[in-house]
Amino acid sequence: MADNAQTIIDLNQRLLNSIVQADWNAYAELCDATLTCFEPEARGHLVEGMPFHRFYFDLGASKGPVHVTMASPHVRMLGDSAALICYVRLVQKLDGNNSPVTAHVEETRVWQKINGQWKHVHFHRVPLA
Ligand code: GLY
Repeated sequence: MADNAQTIIDLNQRLLNSIVQADWNAYAELCDATLTCFEPEARGHLVEGMPFHRFYFDLGASKGPVHVTMASPHVRMLGDSAALICYVRLVQKLDGNNSPVTAHVEETRVWQKINGQWKHVHFHRVPLA
């Protein structure tokens, strides 16, 4: 189980890196095509599928250095073929004055092993006050 938990942490870090780097190929490879989500951009609606997410990747990565950290990631294996991971995502970047700032959001992400490969199948993101 511990190895599986580390696998989920590693895959999730790759996913978060792909988002800040606007690396659509890496993101799409890690996700199932039927990915569902609740996130602030969806204005309270459950969104299914990849096109909604692609819109943001097509805008490109933001300029300047960026670093993503999962703070206190907690993995729960749901048998051998499903897992959820919860953490606070910290994103370090520069603001308009080139001063470092840290954005923070709560995330829960669900992974499922489909045909022998872990795929990201659902997430829920909530901004922290
Ligand atoms: N909006 C893409 C993601 O957080 O997975």
